[in-house]
Parts: sequence; C-alpha cells; structure tokens
Amino acid sequence: MKVLGIETSCDDTGVAIYDTDHGLLAHCLASQVELHALYGGVVPELAARDHVKLLQPLVMKTMEVAETSADQIDGVAYTAGPGLSGALLVGASLGRALAWAWQVPAVGVHHMEGHLLAPMLENTPPSFPFIALLVSGGHTLLVDVVDIGRYSLLGGTVDDAVGEAFDKTAKLLGLSYPGGPSIAKAAETGRSDRWKFPRPMTDRPGLDFSFSGLKTFTRNTVPQGEIDSQTVSDIAAAFQEAAVDTLVIKCKRALHQTGRRRLIVAGGVGANLLLRSRLKEMTKAEGKKVFYPRSEFCTDNGAMIAYAGTLRLQGGNRQGLDFTVRPRWSLVDLEPLERIAN
Ligand code: KG4
Ligand code: ZN
Repeated sequence: MKVLGIETSCDDTGVAIYDTDHGLLAHCLASQVELHALYGGVVPELAARDHVKLLQPLVMKTMEVAETSADQIDGVAYTAGPGLSGALLVGASLGRALAWAWQVPAVGVHHMEGHLLAPMLENTPPSFPFIALLVSGGHTLLVDVVDIGRYSLLGGTVDDAVGEAFDKTAKLLGLSYPGGPSIAKAAETGRSDRWKFPRPMTDRPGLDFSFSGLKTFTRNTVPQGEIDSQTVSDIAAAFQEAAVDTLVIKCKRALHQTGRRRLIVAGGVGANLLLRSRLKEMTKAEGKKVFYPRSEFCTDNGAMIAYAGTLRLQGGNRQGLDFTVRPRWSLVDLEPLERIAN
C-alpha cells in the first residue's frame, strides 16, 4: 500500500510517500523560514498563501523522486489539525481533491499523532507502550501511549510551549527566527553557569510545565542598551540548560509514575542536541530507553503524516467528501485503532 502524505499545519510544506512494503519512498520539504523570519514569527495568512504556491509542485516532485505514478497511490493522508486554519485548509483541500480524483480513500491526520509516531520510521522503532514527550512550537505534552490512538495526557504546559519559549527568548536576545536552532548555536560558545535560570514547577509534584517564567527571566537578565555577543551566548546557554533540565526532570518523573520502560521524544524541540544527550544519560541511569526520530523528522515534515495516515487507513479510518479541519484538536479525542498487520 502506497500513501501520499501532506503536511501544511504551520510554516513548512511537507510531502512524502510511504509504502508498507518498502518504507519511505520519498519525502520533500519546502520551508517558509525566510518569509517569516522578516516578521520574527509565523504570519498565518502569509503561511497559507505560500502553501498554495508551494504544495502542488512539491506533490509532483515527491511523486517523481519516489518514481510513483498517480495510479500507484492507494490513499492520501493530510494534516487536519491542530494548526493554523488557513494553512491546514490548503493541505486538506488538495489532499481530499487528489483522493477524489484518483478514486482512493483519504484520511485527516492529527499533527501531534504524526509527531508521536515519527520514531517508528527509524531502524529500531520503539514498541508499545511508551511515554511520549511532545515538544514543539505550539505544544509541550507528556503522553502515556498504550497503542495507536490510546493516549492519556499526563501533563501539559500551563502557559507557553517550550518551543515558543525558545522563539521568544531568541527574539529578546536579537537572535534569528526560529529561535530553537539559533539559541542552540549561540549556546555552543556560552557559559551556562554565569546565570542560574529557574526550573519552573519542578519543586512541586505533578507533570505540568510552565515556560513563560524563563522568558521573563531572560527579559530581566538582558542588560540595557548594547549587548555583547558573549553575554548573548551565556544567556542562551543558561536558558537552554534550564529548559532542558526541566524537561528531563519531568520525563524522569513520568517514567517513575507510570513504570513505563520506554520514552520517545518528538516535535521540533526534540532536534535539540543537549536535550537528546541529557535524556539519553537519564534513561540509561534509570535502566530505560529513549527513542527519537532523526532530526529532520522532529520538525514538521510530510513523512510522519504519510506514516500515521497509512496506519489510520489500514485501520479503516476514512474521511468522507465533507472534509473539515480542526485548528484546535486534543490528542485524547482520537479513536483507538486496532492495528492491522501489513
Ligand atoms: O514541530 P515544529 O517544527 O512545528 C510545530 O509544530 O510547532 O516545532 C517548531 C519549534 C520551534 O519553536 C523551534 O524554535 C523549535 O521547534 N526548534 C528547536 C530546535 N529546532 C527547532 N528548539 C530547540 N532546539 C532546536 N535545535
Ligand atoms: Zn509540529
């Protein structure tokens, strides 16, 4: 079974083709980073218009790379939410229309389920059950994953998502958008012990997060007037240390609380190298195991949507012609899926 996957929930246009016999055949990405960098963040209307321009040529390119013709596609998956409504509508409209034209089933995929299943695309995928740390620009979630579609929420953020904190802190430091990679880069030459940032909500029980305090701490730490590059690096390093430390503490707590043996990390912030190495150390010390997608599948991409869509289509999920998008959509509202062997 070959499935075309389309991702347009935010500022990346992603397309991929997943084959149940041969794995991922092709994945292509068109990033809008330069367009939004001018404004220091994603401008929803511009994102939607750019998807309109980029998506159809990207679908054609992906089919060419995969050496797959329209009559070989068995289904189409597109991100139906959560995300920016205009952006989502572009992918959903084209995805649903292509499925109709090709007379194959379509399915709307939950963006965070895509992230959550992305480690399955790697050579050593985790088996169920596991704990998922989902960290992106819009979400910070700890989820107990029993099986596909059987999710219970262990914790979430009470204010900013961790990716958002990276983005806002970068802006305060005069670093470029998106903030995650620029903070990580600046931190390479910084001293993380010049300032001690707080580890929010780690001194009380529970698995919820709060990241807006880190951004405020940065605002109060940044000196008035001209700021030298060493100070920028030192603040970036101290911020990154605090954000990563906080995530690691909560992951450890979630593993203890549930007794699960495996942890997966996905979403854009999952590309952060310090987070990856600290979680590896922590899980090793605890006798547990951590799994990640490769970095390019941590940030938004079409491959995770093609893969999650394949599993959903195999499980009988279908979207009728009356499709819609869901800008707000909780993971726990998803239907459990009886997994069907290939
Ligand atoms: O999953 P994603 O690509 O899009 C959303 O669904 O939000 O995540 C984007 C977020 C941004 O906030 C970006 O700054 C952050 O992921 N990010 C990182 C890194 N790469 C991307 N944060 C920390 N370190 C990174 N290396
Ligand atoms: Zn995402």
